[in-house]
Amino acid sequence: MKHLNLVRFGVSLESGLLQEFDRIIKEKRYPNRSKALSDLIRQHITEKAWNENRKVFGVITMVYDHHRRMLVNKLLKIQHDFHDSVISSQHLHIRHDACLEIIAVKGRGGHIKELFDELKSQKGVLHAAFTESVSA
Ligand code: NI
Repeated sequence: MKHLNLVRFGVSLESGLLQEFDRIIKEKRYPNRSKALSDLIRQHITEKAWNENRKVFGVITMVYDHHRRMLVNKLLKIQHDFHDSVISSQHLHIRHDACLEIIAVKGRGGHIKELFDELKSQKGVLHAAFTESVSA
């Protein structure tokens, strides 16, 4: 048998959450919590890798403060940095001081997430959302 390098660690959980977990463990006939937890962790890691690598199409919408110094330039620069992922963008002046921008994007999930995080973290961006329309 392959030698496994096992490490023990402590986990603190809300009792209700642990009860629910134990119920699922029983239902799925896991021999113990460790086996169930390692399966969950492995599944999470696989899912993450998959999400980062798969191609997505979607739309980023954001509302931002037009008067914030240099913000418009910064948002444009970020989009240029990700020019291979940006299909088109539409700018709507919704109020005197606020703009709505709709950006159609395509690319690897991880890359689109980077673009989205970069845009939404700029000071003066009041709201940002990513909606996936289809995955290719
Ligand atoms: Ni505007």
